[in-house]
Amino acid sequence: MSSESSTNSSTNSHQHPKGSCPMTGKTFDFCPPQAGDSRSPCPALNALANHGYLPRDGKNIGPMDLVRGLKKGYHLSSVLAYILSFGSLFLLGQFRCMSLSDLARHNLIEHNASLVHDDDNNGAEYAPTSVDNTLLTALCSEGGKVLPNRMTLEDAALIRVKREKECGILDGVHAEIARGEIVIAIGVLGGKDAAKNGVKISALHEWMSNERLPVGWKPDHTQGLYQTYKMAKFVRERMREVRAQQPSDKPPVQSQ
Ligand code: HEM
Ligand SMILES: [Mg+2]
Repeated sequence: MSSESSTNSSTNSHQHPKGSCPMTGKTFDFCPPQAGDSRSPCPALNALANHGYLPRDGKNIGPMDLVRGLKKGYHLSSVLAYILSFGSLFLLGQFRCMSLSDLARHNLIEHNASLVHDDDNNGAEYAPTSVDNTLLTALCSEGGKVLPNRMTLEDAALIRVKREKECGILDGVHAEIARGEIVIAIGVLGGKDAAKNGVKISALHEWMSNERLPVGWKPDHTQGLYQTYKMAKFVRERMREVRAQQPSDKPPVQSQ
């Protein structure tokens, strides 16, 4: 599948000219990607495009579009939104604008050992952007170890260790990116007590499988940089402890 082709034909198939939708108009209602729309391996950004917080065609996205989308759609703090948006375009080497599918370029931001996406196929330039339902089911069934029906930071640490054991250990930068992804997802979708209580697994599943904001969910706090840093630090330390308990079972080092 080409990197541009993560489309989902709906019965009312239509186009998203200039990133707008004739069906939803100026609302932030959900509309799945249509033929020709560009999508990424990031459930968060795909969901923003599916709700019109980013151009619905997923194209011509500049850093300030990202900043505005992240703040409006997920209530990220300005500092966190700026760092993620400008940092990402810097890592991609695309300073003016991008299409969502550019984010699938392997080993820039995208990495192997993803939670719900298959590894890059034999050194392909672009990694898969479609969610692998088997991985998604596995992810959700690994949650709930601390609190029933909830995916906590502790669960996230165990799952990251497991994925890197299956696929190979990530280098430091990509390991940090991978932790950041699930931490921000738990923080934003789980609400203001997410560091302690995690997120409902059903909401995480709905968000990841349909790339749609969970029905009834609204941001209830501003997710800031320091809070995100502390949550990611917890996951990093727990991963280290868990790995230290399984020394004889060292995972292979990630091949690029
Ligand atoms: C400018 C902002 C962002 C950019 C450029 C970005 C980019 C990416 C990319 C390239 C990936 C693929 C990594 C991989 O799994 O190989 C990814 C995955 C992911 N992102 Fe984002 N992201 C952004 C913001 C966010 C936010 C705000 C959240 C949470 C609300 C989020 C949650 C995730 C999650 C959970 C994954 C993991 C998917 C998986 O492991 O299969 N991202 N992101
Ligand atoms: Mg990946």
